[in-house]
Amino acid sequence: MPFKKYYIVIFPIVLIVVLVLWKLSQFIELDFSQESENVLNFVDVELSEEEADRLDRDFIPGIEYVTNLTGLWAIRFFLVAFLMSPINLIVGKSFPLYFRQSIGITTGLFTTLHVMVFIFSEGILPIFTRVELIFGFLAFLIILSLTLTSSKRAMQLLKRKWKSLHRWVYFAALLVMAHLVILDQSWLIYGSLFALGFFFRLKAVKQFIKS
Ligand code: HEM
Repeated sequence: MPFKKYYIVIFPIVLIVVLVLWKLSQFIELDFSQESENVLNFVDVELSEEEADRLDRDFIPGIEYVTNLTGLWAIRFFLVAFLMSPINLIVGKSFPLYFRQSIGITTGLFTTLHVMVFIFSEGILPIFTRVELIFGFLAFLIILSLTLTSSKRAMQLLKRKWKSLHRWVYFAALLVMAHLVILDQSWLIYGSLFALGFFFRLKAVKQFIKS
């Protein structure tokens, strides 16, 4: 593995992870004193006057802010991972394995944080009472399996099964989109980019680009 190149490529990803975790830490408080009911508490986010008028509320509950921030970074990294093959195809060069792995692992990390924050505040069972959360949960299970099998060793162990397993990424993309559409969160940009990823995977389109 070329060591210096490895660090240069991984550095921006690590920087983003550290900055997002630092931002999250500002809205999370740990309280180990016995008077407090919960060890983990969320700090509400005060809105500026302009934002308060626009959103018609004075603050965003800390838990909502943290759920949204982790969800946003999960989908951003997932999208980058999803669009890597079409970009490979267009530029005619593939990204180094360690870059693809770091993007995959970071997607897994933010998705897990997103789900854990929800489970911490609401519990596990409420997930199975809302269809959009069931979609999110299934997507989470797929993303987690893909992350855990992203190593070269897993590739060698699973052989042909590895490819079939990693094809589940398409289903995960659809589930994540269903999660957002039903939650009525901003999904149009993500939906268009995922659609572009699907389009460039069509056999005819691939053949056209290669020729
Ligand atoms: C068990 C699985 C999941 C649960 C319980 C869950 C829960 C939630 C909830 C409750 C919200 C809305 C927060 C609010 O505004 O009140 C949300 C938003 C969101 N979730 Fe999930 N989610 C899950 C899985 C996923 C996965 C797998 C992804 C993507 C990889 C994802 C990406 C997002 C995004 C992008 C948002 C919207 C953020 C925004 O627009 O501000 N979620 N999720």
